Amino acid sequence: MSDFQDRVVVVTGSGRGIGKEIARAFVAQGAKVAIASRTLSNSEATAAELNALGVGEAKGYAVDISDYEATIEFGKQVTADLGKTSILVNNAGVTRDGLALRMSEEDWDTVLDTNLKGAFNAVKAFQRTLLKAENARIINISSVIGLMGNAGQANYAASKAGLIGFTKSLAKEFASRKVCVNAIAPGFIVTDMTDELSEEIQETIKKDIPLGSFGETDDIANAVMFLAGTTARYITGQVLTVDGGMVM
Ligand SMILES: NC(=O)c1ccc[n+]([C@@H]2O[C@H](COP(=O)([O-])OP(=O)(O)OC[C@H]3O[C@@H](n4cnc5c(N)ncnc54)[C@H](O)[C@@H]3O)[C@@H](O)[C@H]2O)c1
Repeated sequence: MSDFQDRVVVVTGSGRGIGKEIARAFVAQGAKVAIASRTLSNSEATAAELNALGVGEAKGYAVDISDYEATIEFGKQVTADLGKTSILVNNAGVTRDGLALRMSEEDWDTVLDTNLKGAFNAVKAFQRTLLKAENARIINISSVIGLMGNAGQANYAASKAGLIGFTKSLAKEFASRKVCVNAIAPGFIVTDMTDELSEEIQETIKKDIPLGSFGETDDIANAVMFLAGTTARYITGQVLTVDGGMVM
């Protein structure tokens, strides 16, 4: 039987992109997955698509993960609907790029509140069930930008580097309860988020990727499934870069 049969999994920001692919991988292995995005129509459309696979179960939710109270309510609703969560994937993220010199306070706050505080909020919403669950996992989707920095992305880099510090601290705090907490740092993965970049910038980035191509969403989903599975039970507090060799 699959490691994930009937397990309750929460994937934030899973209405599209990397999060949707992660949700698909869990549903395909028989899990019950909460699809969380800001807009109910998006998450319900994704849930319907994944339910059509005929294995597992997906249910759509609308939540603004940067809102503490709303995220706690979301946690209660998921427990009532699907049962006790044992795997949390903090994937929701945004960019508001611009040079730090000209960056508005609003752009700083939006990115930090979503990418970093959002992960804290979700952990608070599910910590009680995670700490009691068997083979519990928290997987935070960081970025190579959190390891390298990037001109024009000071807010995003700070949020993603912060997520790594958060991951390592939680890993230490939750280790006695056998909850493994890890981060994945994707490189350049083809999604709506990266489609916003001009072709010129995309070509420049490609030159810095030793494997010579951009990643696909399932490259990240495969890494998540590995860290979430029982074979990864002795791995915690780590950052797995999935980036075609950008950071070594
Ligand atoms: N695409 C890449 O190359 C790349 C590289 C490194 C890291 N990442 C990270 O991977 C994650 C997914 O990225 P993606 O490329 O699929 O992006 P995307 O923009 O396609 O998807 C992001 C998802 O997050 C959701 N979201 C945003 N703000 C939210 C909020 N406040 N509350 C709830 N949901 C919210 C969006 O609705 C969307 O579903 C992000 O954390 C991103 O930073 C992406």
